[in-house]
Amino acid sequence: MRKKKQLGKYMWDVKHMVESILIIFFIMGALATIAYYYVNMEHDHEQQLIKLYTPNHTAYDSLDGCDLFSGKWVHDNHSYPLYKDLDCPYIFGDFACGPYGRLDSSYQQWRWQPHGCTLPRFSSKEVLERLRGKRILFVGDSVNRNQWVSMVCMLQTVIPLGRKKMQKVPNVSMLTFKALEYNVSIDFYWAPLLVESNGDHPTKHKTNDRIVRIKSIEHHAKNWVNVDVLVFNSYLWWRMPTLKILNESSEDSKQYNIVDNHRGYRMVMKTWSDWLFTHINHTRTQSYFISMTATHHRGVEWGGKSDENCLNETKPITKDEFWETGSDLKMLRILESSLNKLKARGVKVEMINITQLTQYRKDAHPSIYRLHYSPLTNKQLSNPSSYADCTHWCLPGVPDVWNELLLAYILRKHK
Ligand SMILES: *[C@@H]1O[C@H](CO)[C@@H](O)[C@H](O)[C@H]1NC(C)=O
Ligand SMILES: *[C@@H]1O[C@H](CO)[C@@H](O)[C@H](O)[C@H]1NC(C)=O
Ligand SMILES: *[C@@H]1O[C@H](CO)[C@@H](O)[C@H](O)[C@H]1NC(C)=O
Ligand SMILES: *[C@@H]1O[C@H](CO)[C@@H](O)[C@H](O)[C@H]1NC(C)=O
Ligand SMILES: *[C@@H]1O[C@H](CO)[C@@H](O)[C@H](O)[C@H]1NC(C)=O
Ligand SMILES: *[C@@H]1O[C@H](CO)[C@@H](O)[C@H](O)[C@H]1NC(C)=O
Ligand SMILES: *[C@@H]1O[C@H](CO)[C@@H](O)[C@H](O)[C@H]1NC(C)=O
Ligand SMILES: *[C@@H]1O[C@H](CO)[C@@H](O)[C@H](O)[C@H]1NC(C)=O
Repeated sequence: MRKKKQLGKYMWDVKHMVESILIIFFIMGALATIAYYYVNMEHDHEQQLIKLYTPNHTAYDSLDGCDLFSGKWVHDNHSYPLYKDLDCPYIFGDFACGPYGRLDSSYQQWRWQPHGCTLPRFSSKEVLERLRGKRILFVGDSVNRNQWVSMVCMLQTVIPLGRKKMQKVPNVSMLTFKALEYNVSIDFYWAPLLVESNGDHPTKHKTNDRIVRIKSIEHHAKNWVNVDVLVFNSYLWWRMPTLKILNESSEDSKQYNIVDNHRGYRMVMKTWSDWLFTHINHTRTQSYFISMTATHHRGVEWGGKSDENCLNETKPITKDEFWETGSDLKMLRILESSLNKLKARGVKVEMINITQLTQYRKDAHPSIYRLHYSPLTNKQLSNPSSYADCTHWCLPGVPDVWNELLLAYILRKHK
């Protein structure tokens, strides 16, 4: 009963977010745009995409032996953005920077250029064609959801109205996007800590008292089977110094141990690895783990003032190998070592190593240009940088590039 109510609320939240975006869409004088949209959409996109995505199979074939994750950002307003925010009705309020008032757009125009090779480009049609009959599932936190929305936006532009569908899956924290003609499903499952916790509600999960059932993954993970591509991300919520681990062999449901976050992360990686090893058919399913992403809360790290953060930033950092101190390298090492152990057991999980490339992009966060779930106080309003979101990423933007990297791997393996 309680669950049903929560899910109802979640549904409402999703609808509310979509509606908010739609309202703003209208406010921005979009009636004309709509007329244009219906008349010209398909034709316009066809032309645009043919121009933008010339598949380069030379580069594609030479992917082996190239480190796609070591490189630099190059301004490229010819190829980017890959889509327009108003053309994607699925951008949640957290990521809809343009509709929430961000006026600069240069942050949408950067290409990731690996040293030594070219990132393969695929047309949306080609991607859908090659994924025909497949299901991709993103599992994780809000950064993972950021990436999932980006993937949907990248692919949905070429699908005409009426041949795509976005739905909440009944009774689970899952959203599913379907490209009907291609029989492709691109889904997102909310499990910010992978295992069960008091953060499992997709919208009502704020607390300073995080309690985790570190060995209980099945309740979520039973929904992760029969998938062709699994894409995990869980980092953000492990950054608190300590967390409470429920002792599940104790009858007292309130007995817990306090552990530091690194110990907790090691424990969850073990639970997750064991589950993946026993429950997934690795002939059918490709698995990926997205590495941690940078946050930009400390302006002093790139030469700003002490009270500055990502707010008002419009250019990437150009200093080679820039590293912001909030990125916990020790946690990255724990992830790497877990994936290596899985590999030794015969299970290949590819890490999409976006940590360094996100370090440079102080310009690409929503900052104050996003939906705020609770009303801002006068104190906050008088100091905008105090409520700037320097964790998530505007769409279109940096997550589109994570997906280009992910697709380079997914499609290579389907060859
Ligand atoms: C394709 O990629 C290769 C290797 O990076 C490059 O040499 C070539 O110029 C590219 N071709 C086109 C048409 O972009
Ligand atoms: C693209 O960027 C170049 C500079 O890199 C600028 O001269 C040009 O006006 C830009 N074009 C558009 C359409 O924004
Ligand atoms: C769609 O794909 C699924 C596998 O993901 C397959 O079981 C099903 O038969 C396909 N449906 C159609 C209509 O092709
Ligand atoms: C969802 O849960 C409700 C009650 O909790 C139940 O009646 C319904 O059958 C469930 N639906 C599915 C698809 O499992
Ligand atoms: C968990 O509770 C059981 C039973 O009370 C106890 O034997 C065990 O030592 C506890 N484990 C930890 C890690 O505290
Ligand atoms: C695993 O998946 C492959 C490819 O879909 C299939 O041929 C095989 O039968 C599956 N193995 C098991 C144990 O289900
Ligand atoms: C951000 O830019 C606005 C408008 O240019 C300015 O009023 C504000 O002081 C700037 N804030 C910070 C923290 O630099
Ligand atoms: C991922 O990137 C980080 C930062 O550049 C680097 O320290 C780490 O070694 C990389 N890991 C792998 C497995 O490539």
